[in-house]
Amino acid sequence: MTRVASPSPLHRLGHVSATLGVEVFVKREDLCAPGFGGNKARKLAPLLRAAQQRNATDLVTVCAVGAHQLAALAHEAVPLGFEVHAVLVPAPHTPRGEALTRYALAGGVQVVPASSETHATARAVATLARLRATDRRPLVVPPGATDLRGRSARAYLDAGREALGQIDARPGEAEPIAEHVCVLGSGGTCAGIWAAACEHAGQGYPPARVRGVRVYPTAAINHAVLYAQMCQALGRPVRPTCPLVFDDGAVGRGYGWPSPEGDAAIALFAQDGVRLDPIYTAKAAAALIAAARTVTLQGPVLFWHTAPGLELDAVDLGAALPADVTDVFAGYST
Ligand SMILES: Cc1ncc(COP(=O)(O)O)c(C=O)c1O
Repeated sequence: MTRVASPSPLHRLGHVSATLGVEVFVKREDLCAPGFGGNKARKLAPLLRAAQQRNATDLVTVCAVGAHQLAALAHEAVPLGFEVHAVLVPAPHTPRGEALTRYALAGGVQVVPASSETHATARAVATLARLRATDRRPLVVPPGATDLRGRSARAYLDAGREALGQIDARPGEAEPIAEHVCVLGSGGTCAGIWAAACEHAGQGYPPARVRGVRVYPTAAINHAVLYAQMCQALGRPVRPTCPLVFDDGAVGRGYGWPSPEGDAAIALFAQDGVRLDPIYTAKAAAALIAAARTVTLQGPVLFWHTAPGLELDAVDLGAALPADVTDVFAGYST
């Protein structure tokens, strides 16, 4: 079963295009699943199906406190009957991060606080061992919901095919996409979009560039890792005919911190009725704006809006954060 509503909408951003002097379209992944949406919902769908097939009872994951993955598991996995255990790594406190965490707690996610990534690994291992010692059948949900077998990249290959089909179905209205702009975190989203772009180029369309905008600096998510995921998603080795570039220019102070450029992007996209989140999609949009202003950015651009469309101010967030979770936010240090 999947709760992903396909296809998610795709439309032109009139104000953004006029301001940047380049045609910009948006793929509304914020609306891909009813009541929640975002790339985690799409990427979790195949992982949850596999967990159901394996009769898993519990899901164990490690994620930053306040991350979308935490809230997405509450929305997607708990209703399927899984017990979800999320080991929380410290991250900067933001109102949205707190709201997402409260949403997850209210939705039944059980949290395991940790003081660092190393501590989190140890706590995840201990949680798995504790569950296995009873008659539970726990499975791991990988960080960022990107699995190494390419299932989550495959979900974004499907999204990419869907988007390119939507563009191609507008003859005379839109040229083929010249550049995709998406957030680069654990990599599954970008790998799937890259796969779709390469596949499309193989069908005779001009090759499009894929710009993955980092939200945290890491050497671990690199071309080789994404290439492996792309090939797994497509089910065969392929020539990477479309350039993949990593844009490190929008990280700002670091993961989890809003940035002034991101805030400006939020204001610009709001003129087109699109609500970005400050930590992920606002930074990708800031990178798009910077690219349009400083280098020759070829359009049309397809901007991937991968944050959940959940209106956090309109949902019941339950009780205030418990002290041990407040401590995880407080435990963050630069
Ligand atoms: C809203 C949003 N967009 C994009 C990403 C990046 O996706 P991926 O982890 O597949 O690189 C994330 C990851 O945390 C996210 O929360």
